[in-house]
Amino acid sequence: MVKVLIATDKPFAAIAVKGIREVVEGAGFELALLEKYTAKQQLLDAVKDVDAIIIRSDIIDAEVLDAAKQLKIVVRAGAGYDNVDLEAATAHGVVVMNTPGQNSNAVAELVFGLLVYGVRNFFNGTSGTELKDRKLGILAYGNVGRNVARIAKGFGMDIYAYDAYTPAQVIENDGVKAVVSTEELFSTCQIVSLHIPATAETKNSINHALLSSMPKGAIVVNTARKEVVDEPSLEKIFEERPDFKYLSDIQPGIAAELAARYPDRYFSTPKKIGAQTAEANINAGIAAARQIVDFIQNGNQQFRVNK
Ligand code: 3PG
Repeated sequence: MVKVLIATDKPFAAIAVKGIREVVEGAGFELALLEKYTAKQQLLDAVKDVDAIIIRSDIIDAEVLDAAKQLKIVVRAGAGYDNVDLEAATAHGVVVMNTPGQNSNAVAELVFGLLVYGVRNFFNGTSGTELKDRKLGILAYGNVGRNVARIAKGFGMDIYAYDAYTPAQVIENDGVKAVVSTEELFSTCQIVSLHIPATAETKNSINHALLSSMPKGAIVVNTARKEVVDEPSLEKIFEERPDFKYLSDIQPGIAAELAARYPDRYFSTPKKIGAQTAEANINAGIAAARQIVDFIQNGNQQFRVNK
């Protein structure tokens, strides 16, 4: 019997697991569950006899792939797949997929939770500012970026976006101003929200030059990946600019230092929660389960991300 493992260090909502179970067992497959594991060995043991794995930000590297002798497919229930060693998966003959768009509204809503918290001075009772009429820069204009733009309209923000791969016309059609470069986005917008994946190209790309070019009262919101921000630049900009705030859903390596030195200008959620809603868990988890069933039964590779 085909065996599917849900391996989630950060568990899905119970209702999402129930939905995944219905899809998997409805196809005549078996479902196994490994949640909140504390040691890699638990994952290595759990993958031994499985054909398919559903993960979130869980690390799938060559060691895990070596241990999973029967593995055919890994589906990352979510957008970013920088946690999967794609080359090793291909070398092991394992298909890797993601579930694009399924959790993007949840992440976009959190951007505004962080932003309201930030502009209202972390709810410390002092007079803050409003989001209305503020220039918001969205980098980049994928599924999360589009949802951020949609919600920002409700706040009455002045919205800009840059995406290296999306034609300006697509952005403009949404009533968003398309700028020509990341540099223009940062130098134009007081608030910038990051929605780029962590790739060789984007890692450490949010650097000192970009951060120092931002208008007065600058805020960077990061619900993407910590790796895209160059941490020495972040540290330097906090020292140089008393007007700069950084609001994050992913703790940087220098989190303890920033929290101690700049408690009024730095905030991060203790654990990444952008996609941690019942709706996002259901959408992404069930999509992952369906993609596995469709791949195993029909060979559908539509959402494959490795070559
Ligand atoms: C994603 O890439 O889909 C988000 O960062 C959510 O990640 P998570 O599933 O670990 O919450």
